[in-house]
Amino acid sequence: MSERTIALITGANKGIGYEIATGLGALGWSIGVGARDEQRREAAVAKLRANGVDAFGVPLDVTDDASVTAAATLINDRAGHLDVLVNNAGITGGGPQEPTRVDPAIIRTVVETNVIGVIRVTNAMLPLLRRSAAPRIVNMSSAVGSLTRQTGPGDTTGPISAAYAPSKTFLNAVTVQYAKELRDTNILINAACPGYTATDLNGFRGTRTPEQGAATAIRLATLPDNGPTGAFFEDDGTIPW
Ligand SMILES: NC(=O)c1ccc[n+]([C@@H]2O[C@H](COP(=O)([O-])OP(=O)(O)OC[C@H]3O[C@@H](n4cnc5c(N)ncnc54)[C@H](OP(=O)(O)O)[C@@H]3O)[C@@H](O)[C@H]2O)c1
Repeated sequence: MSERTIALITGANKGIGYEIATGLGALGWSIGVGARDEQRREAAVAKLRANGVDAFGVPLDVTDDASVTAAATLINDRAGHLDVLVNNAGITGGGPQEPTRVDPAIIRTVVETNVIGVIRVTNAMLPLLRRSAAPRIVNMSSAVGSLTRQTGPGDTTGPISAAYAPSKTFLNAVTVQYAKELRDTNILINAACPGYTATDLNGFRGTRTPEQGAATAIRLATLPDNGPTGAFFEDDGTIPW
């Protein structure tokens, strides 16, 4: 069994997840590249390995129980434990998302991935995380899920959305509940916002690079033992709920 620090990143085949893999891999960690599509997964693993990262592929669809169970088995067989889980996979669900005309099916799909997927993966990985000396969980949220920012002066949280933004509000609330339940353990769990980052998610309209978008998640994945838990961060510090 490996004593090396092991991280699993969901949705690591591209965008911010790929850059988190790059950043954590540069620390000499072993990186599980969670991705649902075999070709995209293997291409990302090959690219990371070519850049010196100790990467391995983890077939993983966060909406699929069997896939998530198999991913936990794969990591258990390979390493016997998991140190860091980054729940990065996410979707916007497409549009239109104005609450007065949104298709409820879009809301269901987005919540299934962005919220239930996180719970499914986290709970499958928890037995492995509990075997780590310093377990960390990072949930990739978004400032658009901040109700304070949505309703505050100078709202900059983007388009009206009944699916994507509320899914991140829901994810933040779930993150707080995990932190409360895990308060007496050594597991630190926090939510991160990458900022508006140029990726497939927004047609590459974001103003930050994926590398910049990965920075807060990398910081939360490497928190010291006395670090925060149950909080919501961006580069500049905490984000109000
Ligand atoms: N970009 C931004 O400005 C921004 C801002 C705030 C928050 N975020 C959050 O940051 C995270 C990463 O987004 P990104 O911008 O890097 O987007 P992206 O480039 O579209 O990447 C999303 C990743 O999630 C994966 N994914 C989606 N559904 C999945 C599923 N069911 N199972 C496994 N993987 C799945 C995608 O895999 P496929 O390649 O197979 O589709 C892809 O690897 C998301 O949670 C997003 O909400 C992004």
